Amino acid sequence: MKVLVIVAHPNIEESIVNRTWIGELKNHPSVTVHELYKQYPDEKIDIEREQRLCEEHDRIVWQFPFYWYSSPPLLKKWQDEVLTHGWAYGSDGNKLHNKELILAVSTGSAKERYQAGGRNNYSMSELLKPFQATSNLIGTKFLPPIIFNGTYTANDEEIKESAKAYVDYIFTKDVFQ
Ligand SMILES: Cc1cc2nc3c(=O)[nH]c(=O)nc-3n(C[C@H](O)[C@H](O)[C@H](O)COP(=O)(O)O)c2cc1C
Repeated sequence: MKVLVIVAHPNIEESIVNRTWIGELKNHPSVTVHELYKQYPDEKIDIEREQRLCEEHDRIVWQFPFYWYSSPPLLKKWQDEVLTHGWAYGSDGNKLHNKELILAVSTGSAKERYQAGGRNNYSMSELLKPFQATSNLIGTKFLPPIIFNGTYTANDEEIKESAKAYVDYIFTKDVFQ
């Protein structure tokens, strides 16, 4: 199982959670960690390179901090430009078919805020539907996301544990089957 982790964090130097996750992932040489904001500081994405990377891996992770109920903009740009007709979708667009897609998302707000009547009113499953719809269109299998809520109040131990759980999860074959 070859795993590609595409990270979209615009301010990784000041990150705690996503940076800890990357540190843990890098202990596992079989994972390819690909940080979009580092690779493309000018935000000019090399589409062929990105497509090749995806083709070379079986399981793709989109890792990001939740910004305004979505991903930071470079991951959206990546989707707009890399997921092309004839490659990712359309009658011949089958290059991602049967690969697996996992979201790894950190949120500032606590878990109980992500539910009906909570401050954010909607669950993470509801808010992440556009990613799931994208996955459906490109023919990837959408696996349950890794969500770390409550980064504002999390302590070091919880963050370290989340990094270990994340790595365990992405290496688990046939998760939740
Ligand atoms: C521009 C911006 C928008 C944000 N929007 C949300 C949001 O919609 N929901 C939320 O729970 N947290 C939101 N946050 C908090 C981030 O999700 C949180 O700081 C991040 O997940 C922490 O991860 P890090 O330590 O890797 O930076 C936002 C933060 C920023 C800077």
